[in-house]
Amino acid sequence: MSFRAIALEGTKAEQYAQLVDQARGLMHGERDRTANAANLSALVYHALPDLNWVGFYFFDGRELVVGPFQGLPACVRIAIGRGVCGNAAATGQTQVIADVEAFPGHIACDSASRSEIVVPLFKHDALIGVFDIDSPKLDRFDTDDQRGLEALAQAFLDAID
Ligand code: SME
Repeated sequence: MSFRAIALEGTKAEQYAQLVDQARGLMHGERDRTANAANLSALVYHALPDLNWVGFYFFDGRELVVGPFQGLPACVRIAIGRGVCGNAAATGQTQVIADVEAFPGHIACDSASRSEIVVPLFKHDALIGVFDIDSPKLDRFDTDDQRGLEALAQAFLDAID
């Protein structure tokens, strides 16, 4: 298979809808969690501007452990409730952090990161992990990004068992 990225067009919401379609196509027929997380990270990292880290942390029954990602090497283990990722996992709410330096407890993996969004991943009420996206730009993520990235996270959840 050779992957062809489609050019995203229209409003941000329309662009996310196209990206979600592309993500669903990319994961179609594959239930492997690692494979789908790896391909989704690569798709998003290359499709969206101003990102320096896109990836997954998976819950191992005790804490979050880094999974497939694009970007610089990252912290391996994050306790539930710690940092932005641990907060998303603990609360079940997407965390949108306009300025990571103003977020108490932010875990700096890449010093270039200035803003961050973390979507918690739950399937049948069980914590699967989190989908984490970092930007070198302050206040990079608005409500269109939140909705779009939550839709991408849902496409991932639909694609795994
Ligand atoms: N900043 C995150 C840690 C993960 S890295 O950004 C990849 C946090 O505070 O949870």
